[in-house]
Amino acid sequence: MSRILIRNGIVTDDRISEKADVLISDGKIEAVGPCIEACDGDKVIDASGMYVLPGLIDAHTHYHLVSRGTVTCDSFPEGSRLAVFGGVTTVVDFADHNKGQDLLQSLDYRKDEMKDGMAIDYTLHQGVYGHGYNNTIGSQLEKLKAKGVKTLKIFTTYRNTGYLIENRDDLLDLFKNARRLGMLVTAHCEFNPMIEEISANWKGDFSPASHALLRPAEAEGKAIELFGGIALEADCPLYVVHCSSECGLNAIRELRRKGLMVYAETTPHYMFLDRSKLSGKDASLYVMTPPLREKSDNKAIQDGILGGEFQVVATDHCAFTREQKLSSSDCRTIYPGIPGTEEMFVLLNTFRDDHPQMTMQELVGLVSTNPAKLFGIYPEKGSLEVGTDADVVIFDPSPRWTLSDDNVHSASDYTPYRGFGVHGKVRTTILRGKVIMDDGKYYGVPGEGRFIEQH
Ligand code: URP
Ligand code: ZN
Ligand code: ZN
Repeated sequence: MSRILIRNGIVTDDRISEKADVLISDGKIEAVGPCIEACDGDKVIDASGMYVLPGLIDAHTHYHLVSRGTVTCDSFPEGSRLAVFGGVTTVVDFADHNKGQDLLQSLDYRKDEMKDGMAIDYTLHQGVYGHGYNNTIGSQLEKLKAKGVKTLKIFTTYRNTGYLIENRDDLLDLFKNARRLGMLVTAHCEFNPMIEEISANWKGDFSPASHALLRPAEAEGKAIELFGGIALEADCPLYVVHCSSECGLNAIRELRRKGLMVYAETTPHYMFLDRSKLSGKDASLYVMTPPLREKSDNKAIQDGILGGEFQVVATDHCAFTREQKLSSSDCRTIYPGIPGTEEMFVLLNTFRDDHPQMTMQELVGLVSTNPAKLFGIYPEKGSLEVGTDADVVIFDPSPRWTLSDDNVHSASDYTPYRGFGVHGKVRTTILRGKVIMDDGKYYGVPGEGRFIEQH
């Protein structure tokens, strides 16, 4: 593989943010520093005026998710392709806990599904669901860890799918096992009894707008409080996925005051979209779980980002086509989820431009370094350290453009951020030393993405 020399960029990871050259050889970062000499045959890229960043990580995706009698529309090749246009070279997707399979079988099933389709690297959060919970979980987790998966995903809702672990003792047991094994429990937080009670007494309609009222922010706060209490008892950290509300953030703050290590993730949609989107003819396109909230929640989440209260921004990319989404206008049956991997970084860079107190280094932390560290794939991923995987993004901060359904690559055929003016564009994406996107042209190859073991 020929070497690549990237010259004159502003090289930014968690250790440095300075003008430098980056030399890539044999898929690894070979050198970082001023004035590196090119040799004959080197591919030289001039990155003057651009940022040179570690490959981005979308730590929460659902590519090819089979659920509710359908499948999400971005397959593994399509998910990989749209990701690299957004500078993402690694995703953390999910292995469902399949009915009739233990955790290891479930993991192998998902890895097998992904291996021929992924053109970028990936690792997995392993779901641990109520339907499969039994007293062998401790030994299953040991085997899972030995196979390179150390992050678990649990739900406080979705009783009808069997995801919910209802018994508090089981949850405590899970957290204690996670602590024993150094594994991280990530949790979808919506308190099911509250949602069921609201639903049982509901006199309103089931339009998309009602989705937000049927699954209120208070249910998120309450679930975080509940899981946090169990995590505190087990003396085990908690990772809250897709925090959507001020109420949820307040519950995280309270747990931190009590001494719990809580890692918090949010998404661009909870920063930039509010529940006014749930009215009108396209309302179904904006249904996801947890639902969009108030503008004041957007502001609280944004302030939380600026205040360093969130460690990770990821997207919960769970895309359906316009046709799939609009096939129902009943919020109980609209397929939940929206696309977002591709739009993530330009939206966040635009936010950073509007809030100059936020540095590029902090932004890279949220979408690359921190998830790499938390999910055990650092420094191979999430850094530009010499000797690590040459996953590199060259980002031009200058272009000003507008997101539209026509200039993104998801098979969903729409972007929830249609009409958003954004700052900057990913010019080149490099995966382990190979250019897989350059100037709008895609060179990724399905099957060349690797499963990355967590350590
Ligand atoms: O609506 C969403 N977010 N769908 C994906 C599954 C989940 O709960 O994260
Ligand atoms: Zn979720
Ligand atoms: Zn999700």
